[in-house]
Amino acid sequence: MDLSNPFGTLVARKMEKNELARAISQDIAAELDAAALYQAHIDATDDERAKAVLAHIRDEEKEHVAEFMKLLEMLDPIQAAKMADRDSDISEILSAAGIDI
Ligand SMILES: [Fe+2]
Repeated sequence: MDLSNPFGTLVARKMEKNELARAISQDIAAELDAAALYQAHIDATDDERAKAVLAHIRDEEKEHVAEFMKLLEMLDPIQAAKMADRDSDISEILSAAGIDI
């Protein structure tokens, strides 16, 4: 994201529902990226104050991921169906690989 452009985040019109779902998907990716970045910074420092603050913020980003995922399920019925099937899908994959869960 170009932070030097003050108009870079403006959207020129209201989004349709499918466009909003795609935007929320991008928001999820940004939250995951932020959480990974904060974890990398935790791993790269011995400053306990920084580690504590970064860990707190990292966990908030993970909460945001969960909240955005719920919103995406509400906006995207295909995603909602995939989320509903995830436990059985993972069980089948692991079972086929001979891995007990
Ligand atoms: Fe966030």
